[in-house]
Amino acid sequence: MISAKKKENGILFTLSTNNSSYQMKADKHNVLLHLFYGQRLNDADDLSDLIFLTDTGFSGNPTYAEKDRTYSLDTLPQEVSGFGVGDYRDSMVTLLHDDGSRAAEFRYDSYEIIDGSYKIDGMPALYDTSVTKGETLVITMREAASDIILKLYYGVYEKENVITRAAKLINQGTKSVHVEKLLSMNMDMMFFDPDMIYFTGRHAFERAYERIPVKHAKIEIGSVRGTSSHQYNPSFILCDHDANEEQGDCYGFCLVYSGNFVAAAQKDQKNQVRVQMGIHPEAFCYLLEQGGELMTPQVIMSYSHDGLTTLSHQYHDILRENMCRGKYKYERRPVLINNWEATYFDFNEEKLFNIAKQASELGIEMLVLDDGWFGKRDDDYSGLGDWFVNEEKLGGSLKEIGERVNEMGMKFGLWFEPEMISQDSDLYRKHPEWAIAIPNREPNRGRYQLALDMSRDDVRDYLFEQMSDILSNAPIIYVKWDLNRSICDMYSYASGKEHSGELYHKYVLGVYDLMERLLVRFPDLLLEGCSGGGGRFDAGMLYYSPQIWCSDNTDAINRLTIQYGTSFFYPIGTFGAHVSACPNHQTGRTTPFATRSDVAMSGSFGYELDLSKISDEEKAQVKHQIAQFHDLYELTHEGDYYRLTTLDYDDCIAWAFVAKDKSRAALTLVKTQSEGNPRPTHVGMRGLDKNKKYKCTIKNDTSVINSGAAFVNAGVTIPYIMEQYESAIIMFDEV
Ligand code: DGJ
Repeated sequence: MISAKKKENGILFTLSTNNSSYQMKADKHNVLLHLFYGQRLNDADDLSDLIFLTDTGFSGNPTYAEKDRTYSLDTLPQEVSGFGVGDYRDSMVTLLHDDGSRAAEFRYDSYEIIDGSYKIDGMPALYDTSVTKGETLVITMREAASDIILKLYYGVYEKENVITRAAKLINQGTKSVHVEKLLSMNMDMMFFDPDMIYFTGRHAFERAYERIPVKHAKIEIGSVRGTSSHQYNPSFILCDHDANEEQGDCYGFCLVYSGNFVAAAQKDQKNQVRVQMGIHPEAFCYLLEQGGELMTPQVIMSYSHDGLTTLSHQYHDILRENMCRGKYKYERRPVLINNWEATYFDFNEEKLFNIAKQASELGIEMLVLDDGWFGKRDDDYSGLGDWFVNEEKLGGSLKEIGERVNEMGMKFGLWFEPEMISQDSDLYRKHPEWAIAIPNREPNRGRYQLALDMSRDDVRDYLFEQMSDILSNAPIIYVKWDLNRSICDMYSYASGKEHSGELYHKYVLGVYDLMERLLVRFPDLLLEGCSGGGGRFDAGMLYYSPQIWCSDNTDAINRLTIQYGTSFFYPIGTFGAHVSACPNHQTGRTTPFATRSDVAMSGSFGYELDLSKISDEEKAQVKHQIAQFHDLYELTHEGDYYRLTTLDYDDCIAWAFVAKDKSRAALTLVKTQSEGNPRPTHVGMRGLDKNKKYKCTIKNDTSVINSGAAFVNAGVTIPYIMEQYESAIIMFDEV
């Protein structure tokens, strides 16, 4: 619900969801103040009195405040922080005007309430469905001196307890202006002393959980790699110091964007917490001509009074329903086998069909042909950009291969890395100017490759035509869309120096445009996002690909950390997760075959190993695992997810899925430490209905009936000694 109430000294805006309220006020000077974000208020509540102004030395006063020396933009809690006009904290927007001045001072002008979610041209954003529909408040702010408009968008999703933000600059003035910074949001939280939780990492070890208190030194995460990155995920949480899974105030911030970003929290001199998120201002400078518009990506905010689990559920629900799209949003995705870790580049027709034959016999539902099927590509030094089938290597066309795979009862999927180009490729020889590189400088190579200039129409047209040709001439239902380097050497031969600061953003828009065009042309195509594993695991990508390869690290034990961190914001069914060979190729660790599957089953499940090298017993397990994955599919892809332990909990890591109607649940537990003379392995269950009775089954033959209360309050003990890295899936069925 959105309300706008005229008051004696301004307009009060209140955004309400079932359990949260967000209040702001355009005050008597038309400065838009942030009053509150937290637990739901009553409809008539006005929190203007929370603001108490004092004369603060070295925090000056705008002329319009006249003799009021307490009124300072430097201390007021604001929704939009300007630049260069008296707020010395970090700005949300910085403008370089035609006369050389740097100033941004936006003041309230008008508002509008729209039924439905707002859209962002060329970028992903939450959309309306028959299940969940948004409402939008648009507040128009104006810079009087330049006639530049800033529209602030607030989307409200009542039952999900979600509020979104985005901003749009419109140049209604007579001069062009350079936008040096335009974030999606600014919010000054007056009375809050939080921790910040964020997710950091590296290639093959993404989204590790870190938590530190917010102090006066800024906590800033971000990426200037052209993608959202392995190093920091574009999401974070602010929460009470003692907040845990079940209690405490928690606020989530999740950016719907797949490129450079910044996210920061910092206390100001009055201990207010300034929170910001949006496109990273480094290397960003956007020329906004007269009449031009620039809109930011969306930030999805959510609030929970009841700890981190509720916050995660709110994100899982809204991302599943209002961000993921297409046929496979809800339709079961096939269990796949990918040949990458089985063969790397070293495959031929015989090897591929060996894998395919064995996979089909074991009930695997799709073969994905990974890197190496095109151009001259027997290693990663050449071939990218030449999207022509290497029929000699494959022993036939993709049509023939796909049809043979189909005859075996499996679907067929294919790897692409559309955004990249190898210098050793026909495409580069023909179009060196299509690669991103600075004239007269040697470019930095990543995996020996360069990035294509995705801001160019001709590049995207080429890729669209090449990919469409392949997809329409072979029975391909799935594409793994990879990207294997961070992007630098920013220069576009097409756009000229006036627009060079726009390239990182236009690259991302170009990627979105190409994905959208392909999905319009092939609406049933299942895209799996990938960037060297999980280097672009973000809400923006989920709009195009309802599953994303979570990490190149397939070690089941490392995956516990990676999947734990990923679970705070992203629905579990979006995690690409595979059973791979042991010793694991990334860590050298050996884990039981069943553990690899139990961990991968918390995701979009598949295999990535040479099936001819596994034992008969393991082959039998594969059949059982696929059946089990299907049996658990509704739970893992549509149920509520509970983290039952933290990562440093005792001797095991556990999590659970509970059906929305609480009739069924599955608890997965992995023993991470083992000791001599062991104590029993025990874990508390969560999410069951305390008044229902459940049959709890451990290893098929041991079952016990008790109330939900018993399992939640007293937990479950494993009735046998678990060895290190052994796992168990424990079922709860209502009786
Ligand atoms: C990185 C991906 O994450 C891998 O799964 C694989 O597809 C390789 N690229 C292929 O080059």
